Amino acid sequence: MAQENREQWGSRTGFLLAAIGSAVGLGNIWRFPAEAYKNGGGAFLLPYLIALLTAGLPLLILEYTVGRKYRQSPPAAFRQLTRPAEAIGWWQVAICFVIATYYATIVAWAVRYTGFSFGKDWGKDPEAFFGGEFLHAAAKPGGPSEFVGGVFWPLLLVWAVVLVILALGVRRGIERANKIFMPMLLVFFVALVIRALTLDGASKGLDALFSPDWDALTDGSVWIAAYGQIFFSLSIGFGIMVTYASYLGRRADLSNSALVAGFANSSFEILAGIGVFATLGFMAQAQGVAVDKVVASGVGLAFIAFPAIISEMPGGPFFGVLFFLSLAIAGLTSLISIVQVIVSSVQDRTGMRRLPAVLTVGGVTAVASLAVFPTDAGLHILDACDHFINQYGIVLAALAFLIVVGWVLRKLSFFQAHADETSALRLGLWWRVCLAVITPLVLGWMMVDSLRTELDENYGGMPTSFLAWAGWGVAGGALLVGILISLIPWRGAPATDQDTPAQAEKEAR
Ligand code: ALA
Repeated sequence: MAQENREQWGSRTGFLLAAIGSAVGLGNIWRFPAEAYKNGGGAFLLPYLIALLTAGLPLLILEYTVGRKYRQSPPAAFRQLTRPAEAIGWWQVAICFVIATYYATIVAWAVRYTGFSFGKDWGKDPEAFFGGEFLHAAAKPGGPSEFVGGVFWPLLLVWAVVLVILALGVRRGIERANKIFMPMLLVFFVALVIRALTLDGASKGLDALFSPDWDALTDGSVWIAAYGQIFFSLSIGFGIMVTYASYLGRRADLSNSALVAGFANSSFEILAGIGVFATLGFMAQAQGVAVDKVVASGVGLAFIAFPAIISEMPGGPFFGVLFFLSLAIAGLTSLISIVQVIVSSVQDRTGMRRLPAVLTVGGVTAVASLAVFPTDAGLHILDACDHFINQYGIVLAALAFLIVVGWVLRKLSFFQAHADETSALRLGLWWRVCLAVITPLVLGWMMVDSLRTELDENYGGMPTSFLAWAGWGVAGGALLVGILISLIPWRGAPATDQDTPAQAEKEAR
C-alpha cells in the first residue's frame, strides 16, 4: 500500500488508547500478579522498574520511530533498513499468527465464563469443571481427537468481532473500538479492585504481594522474569508497535507517547496485582490457610482459583461478571492489535485492499484457531505454544532486530534524530546504550538461561514427541516461515533506499 495513501489515526488520544489497549491484556491481569509474588513480592518492583526504563520504554520508542519513519508494517519497514531484515519482520508476523490463534481462545473462554458467572455454573469443583465439562481436555498431551462445541461457538464469536473491527479500518474500526472498550475496562476494573479491597482478608493478600524479599534481587532469574514480563506486557518484539505507529502522522510525538503508554500499562498492571491479591487474601482467610496456598497464575488463576472464590464471596456472580468481562475486553483489544500486524503486513506486501486482506488473512488465522483449539488437545497445545513462542520467538526476534539496527547497521543515532525531530522529550546517549548494550545482553542471557532449563527437563513434564511439534516445531516453524516468505520476489515493492545518505541528511535537517 502506498505510504502516502496510508490510513491515519484520527487523533493522538486515539492512537494512545489503541497502543494502551494492545499493551493491557492477559499479561497484566493474570501474569503480573503471580510473577511479582513469585519473584520477591514488593522487591520485584525494583527489577521491574529497571526493566521498564532500560528495555521497555527504549524499545517502545524505537518501534514507534521505525513504524512512523517508514509508515509500513514490520516486513516492509525492516526491508527499508536492509533487504535481509525483511525476514525478521515476517518472523514477527508468523509469531503474531501463532499467538493470535491461542490468545483468541482464552478470550473465548473468558466470554463463556462471563455467562457461567451468573449461575456459578462450575459448581463445587471449578477445576474438574474447567478441564472436564467445559474443555473436555485430554488427560495427556497429544493430537486432537474430539471437537468441543462449548469452546467453538464463543471462539467463532470472538473472531467475528475481531474481523468486523479490522474490516472497518484503523480509524473507524480499531480506534473507535478502543475508545469504547478502554474506558469500559477502566470502570469495570476499578469497581472490581474496590470490591476486592473491601473483602475480609484483603490486607493479608496485599501483605503477601508487597512484603519485599530483598534477597530475591541477588537471584538472576528474578531479573529475567522482570524483563520477560515487560516484553510481553508492553507488546514489544511482536511488531505490533511498529504497525500501530505506521498509521501516525509525520509530525506525531513519539517519545512522550511511549512514556504515556508504558506508564499507563504499568499502572494497570499494579492495579491488577492489588485486585488479584486482595481477592486471594479473602480466599486464604476464608479457608484459614496462608496466601501461598491459594496463589495461582495464568489459566489456573482465572478459570480455577477465581471461580472458587466467586462461589464463596457475597455478591460473587456480580464480581465474576466484572472479572471475566474485564479479562475478555483486555484480551480483545490486544488480539485486535496482534491480528492487525498480519493483515497490515500482507497488505503492504501485496497491495491488497483492506477488506479482502482481512477476509483472507484474518480468515485463515481464524480457521487455524477454530480447527486446533476447540478440541480435547487444545489446552495442552495452547500451553506448549505459549511457552515456546514467547521464550524462543518474541525474545529472539527482538534480539535479532536490535543486533541488526544497533550493531550491523549502526542506525540508532539516525532513529534518535528522527524521534527527536517531533518529540517533546529528547533522547540521549542513555537511549542508545540501553538498546545497543543493556537490552541485547539481558535478552541473550534470558535465552541461555531458558535453554538450560529446557534441556534439563521437558517443559511441563510433556512428552518429547509432543514438544517436538507443539513447542519447538511451532517456534522454529515461525522463523522458517519468516525466512521463506522474505525470499519470495516482491513485485511492485517500494524502493528500499528511502533513507539513502542524502535523504537521511534531509530528514535530519
Ligand atoms: N501485551 C499483551 C498482554 O499483556 C499481549 O497480554
